[in-house]
Amino acid sequence: MPSFLIPSIDTRYGDYNGTKTNSDYFWFYLKQIYDWRQKNGLDSNFKKIDHITIQVDTGKRLEAAYEFLTMQGYEFLMSLESENYIKTILHFKRDTQVPEIIIREPKKPKQNDIFWFMNQTAPNRKNSHARYIGETILVENIEEVYQVLKSAGKHFLTEQILGSEQEGQKYIETHPSSYTQNTVKYIQYFGKRNLKRQSLDKIFEENKETLEKFEKIKQDQKDAGIYELMRPLDHIATRVMQQDRENAILEILTLEPYYPWGAYNIEEQNSSTNPCRNIFKIPERYSPAKVFTAANSAHFLNFLEDIYNTTDNYAYNFGRSLHHLAFECPDDGKGTLSIDKIVEYIAQKNPKMVGKLFGNREDGIRQIFIQRSEIFGFATEYVQRFDGYHGFFTRENVASLTGALADSEKRIS
Ligand SMILES: [Fe+2]
Repeated sequence: MPSFLIPSIDTRYGDYNGTKTNSDYFWFYLKQIYDWRQKNGLDSNFKKIDHITIQVDTGKRLEAAYEFLTMQGYEFLMSLESENYIKTILHFKRDTQVPEIIIREPKKPKQNDIFWFMNQTAPNRKNSHARYIGETILVENIEEVYQVLKSAGKHFLTEQILGSEQEGQKYIETHPSSYTQNTVKYIQYFGKRNLKRQSLDKIFEENKETLEKFEKIKQDQKDAGIYELMRPLDHIATRVMQQDRENAILEILTLEPYYPWGAYNIEEQNSSTNPCRNIFKIPERYSPAKVFTAANSAHFLNFLEDIYNTTDNYAYNFGRSLHHLAFECPDDGKGTLSIDKIVEYIAQKNPKMVGKLFGNREDGIRQIFIQRSEIFGFATEYVQRFDGYHGFFTRENVASLTGALADSEKRIS
């Protein structure tokens, strides 16, 4: 970066909020990335998040699906089988524009697999295949997206785009990021979406007992009056190492239609939280926010700090990876705590996983972290915004929330 250039904050997609700024390096390259994205047509080619993919250990897929369906308002759509995976697709039946959730298990666990390898470098994930894989972005023209990204030096898991127009879809997936260890997949559909998907993978028939269990989980939610309160994915929160904060954000902006919405410094937890939102200003339920959390100082300096550094410890012990998925809870404008009803229900089903609620109507937002799932390896957040509040947290909330998981984030072995 030429040192005579003093970067200003480029707000072409929206204002920058919060209490933590970035280096000149960040602001300089942010503008360059925006220009590059627009010049090469990426902004108009990218649409929204189509689905997210989560991997669990072999033999754990159904248990994972039961847990997810119990805790969320999604429903079973279908299961598919490819050469290497069995995948269960969950959709938000009340609004099918909401990104789907794919839970996959490797058919034969391979130990030369890149995702396995990444877990081995994280002490608390050793010997597991379970991890968040990444988002899939719906695009208008995948050949063009691929050419632009390839020319920009991006690496992909395959030599070329997979699928074909006849098969109903074409897709390609990036190599995992060295900052987040997640991939980004791009997909273009031809014709009707779900039906066409079947021509690439075989349908995996679930047995009667499984289908009945899926049904029963939904019926229980309806009987408890909780089903209607359970809403779609709101944000995807990734923890990165302290030294990677700016590059992790800049990198995702080269891969997805997002802009940095702001950054909040949380000194009492030695961290900052950095939400990025979609550039199209569509509601989060259709293209969830991407939130990056990073420590302010490195974990090896902990002995010099008074504050327990939960963020960098997490990124070190669990690896750079997804920290939580957050789901919205409805607000009726009268201050009714819909989030409390959901949490009460989860507490009946799985008392071990429940945490503490923070925030209230006056704060604009009320939130909770449900303890990290042993099957998925990440936590769940519920968030209720009151009276049209737009943020992701209050400063006090995020400090308490970050602290709420501190004990579960220490090194296991
Ligand atoms: Fe969150």
